[in-house]
Amino acid sequence: MTKNIPPHAIPAHGGRLVSRLLQGAERDRLINKAPEMKTLALTRRELCDIEMLAVGAYSPLEGYMGRKDYETVVTSMRLAGGMPWSIPITFRVTHDQAASLKEGQDVALVDERQAVLAILHLEEKFEYDKKLAAKAVYRTDSAEHPGVDVLYKRGDVLLGGKVSVLRLPENREFLPYRLTPAETRQIFKDRGWKTVVGFQTRNPVHRAHEYIQKCALEIVDGLLLHPLIGETKSDDIPADVRMKCYEALLEKYYPKDRVLLSVLPAPMRYAGPREAIHHAIVRKNYGCTHFIVGRDHAGVGSFYGSFDAHHIFNEFAPGELGITPLFFDNTFHCKACGSMASIKTCPHDKAEHVSLSGTKVRGMLRAGVLPPPEFSRPEVAKILIEAMKGGG
Ligand code: ADX
Repeated sequence: MTKNIPPHAIPAHGGRLVSRLLQGAERDRLINKAPEMKTLALTRRELCDIEMLAVGAYSPLEGYMGRKDYETVVTSMRLAGGMPWSIPITFRVTHDQAASLKEGQDVALVDERQAVLAILHLEEKFEYDKKLAAKAVYRTDSAEHPGVDVLYKRGDVLLGGKVSVLRLPENREFLPYRLTPAETRQIFKDRGWKTVVGFQTRNPVHRAHEYIQKCALEIVDGLLLHPLIGETKSDDIPADVRMKCYEALLEKYYPKDRVLLSVLPAPMRYAGPREAIHHAIVRKNYGCTHFIVGRDHAGVGSFYGSFDAHHIFNEFAPGELGITPLFFDNTFHCKACGSMASIKTCPHDKAEHVSLSGTKVRGMLRAGVLPPPEFSRPEVAKILIEAMKGGG
């Protein structure tokens, strides 16, 4: 175990773990008042963000960003007070919806069954420049980028204000794995882990993932495997299938007492470098001291350079983010080395490297063919083949 740091010593971003999940009298009061309030429907993505805000995964945010925070986040990756924050957390409405709302009003946020989940204490409504946001946050204004596409389709007015969450979204899949930041922190403490590395993922686990996780685990006390299970694009592999893959892998190949599998209920934004910063800050809130950033982290198509998500960390002073990134180069199995490697550790020619494109692997799995074990553990590939038979 690492010396000199008490277990679970890492503070949340901003110093205090936020909780916006109401209890007791204040919750009862808002539940009683909610029927008199105007309502706004939450999309699936917004439901994910509500859960993140409720449990403090977005600490220090207590709600949707107001104009000042929004603008400084877009232009300079900082909240208005100067704290690093790279992704706008916003609630968007149309002009018509905005016209019927007044600043200072409480608004009930409802799910698809019209059940009230949260109250938005509306502080501000303001217009914003979508192209500017797209270029700054996603580094492109092309609607072919899935994150930009969502941005363009949303309303033109942003609502800012704190949220009070009355209950978490109904769809509580993966319950044993759905740990809040307070819960993961407690587990790290109970296990005596002083240093914990977080691993973000939205894809089925393959050997390169396993390799970088285990390399990281060589130098820290514990590993938080933290697959993102919020909204992803429709052609990504569904979260339940990815979780089955992890369960199979953990069963056979990981030291159980040094790994915690939990899920991140956030939506995926595909914002590459900006999202790498965001993912790191969020994992700090879950109590991680280190965070893995590999090749093309949170990237999509060819919108980002393979290591843009590494370089963006240089835009912050050392230690400023309060979590240590662990950068990994592209990793692969090398036949001549007889092991996993990267160009940092392998002297051989590319011809020796087992690297398959995502498209090729999907084709193999659809045809019921196991990819080479150097690429994917057969236990994982079998689960993926079964899922694809079911139309996945
Ligand atoms: S992501 O959108 O969540 O980043 P993915 O689940 O594929 O996608 O990746 C999870 C993490 O593993 C990211 O940090 C990513 O950069 C890293 N990664 C994925 N494949 C490789 C690889 N072959 N070499 C190095 N890092 C990788």
